Amino acid sequence: MKLWKKIALSVLVLLLLVIAVGIQAVVGWRALVLGPKARPLTALRIEATPERLERGRYLAEARHGCVFCHSERDWKAPGAPPRQDRLGAGVVWEAEGMPWLTAPNITPDPETGIGRASDDAIVRAIREGIGLDGRAIFALMPYEDFRRIPDEDAASIVVYLRSLKPIKNALPKSRLPFPLGLIMRGVPQPVDGPVPAPDLSTPEKRGEYVLRTSACHHCHTPMDDRGQFKMALDMAGGNPFP
Ligand code: HEC
Ligand code: HEC
Repeated sequence: MKLWKKIALSVLVLLLLVIAVGIQAVVGWRALVLGPKARPLTALRIEATPERLERGRYLAEARHGCVFCHSERDWKAPGAPPRQDRLGAGVVWEAEGMPWLTAPNITPDPETGIGRASDDAIVRAIREGIGLDGRAIFALMPYEDFRRIPDEDAASIVVYLRSLKPIKNALPKSRLPFPLGLIMRGVPQPVDGPVPAPDLSTPEKRGEYVLRTSACHHCHTPMDDRGQFKMALDMAGGNPFP
């Protein structure tokens, strides 16, 4: 073989190796080829009780910020609260500068919301980041934090969502800019087995649980250009909100 051919071949092999290792590091080959890691759905049936409804309202409206992200907001009112007449109806994140991102309709409307989804499909979306259509959900929805939500709280959230006024609101699907969509495929991780109630026996443990499942670090920790949190700067001041 001629020398230049040998060199070209080595460069090619090296390049392929770098690409292969890079993909493994960023997404993982498995996720790239087979799609996100998703466990099979169960026949879980969540019973609606008044206690779950009340608990779910608190969790979804206050603690975990579900309706805050999944509703159109009243930008003229102080704090830009979610519009009460559009609670959970979904919104394109244009005002936040991400016009390619849609927080889907999570009201019980059967065509445009979660009306036809099974209880376990909704729980899996919340805690494991698998969309109702099987896609990897963009990790701005804090499912990596939500994986610690105990089964009973997850059940309460589902009961609350199913109690919302069904609103017909067809929205475009998210179109994550390249390569975010590919990177996202490696993020969802199944929750194996039941999630018990957290240890809240001391104020510190309780505070840690509440803080880590309330998306605080989504705003208070800076991100790198791949959308990953810089954990060395955990809670050290995050993102400007122009
Ligand atoms: C920081 C904003 C944010 C918070 C907080 C949030 N979500 Fe989301 N959620 C999103 C976005 C954005 C998507 C869609 C991302 C995508 O399309 O990749 C999503 C996707 C979903 C989906 C999948 C819907 C579908 O059609 O596939 C469900 C269900 C859902 N969220 C429910 C919830 C619940 C319940 C909570 C509270 C426990 C919650 N979300 C909290 C932003 C958020
Ligand atoms: C949606 C983004 C967002 C989330 C989620 C969020 N914060 Fe903040 N936080 C901000 C912004 C923006 C400010 C500054 C507001 C201002 O300057 O008026 C702030 C201010 C604060 C302050 C005041 C700091 C100071 O120096 O004055 C504290 C403390 C705080 N947040 C703690 C938390 C905790 C704890 C959580 C979770 C329970 C949380 N934040 C969730 C965006 C967020």
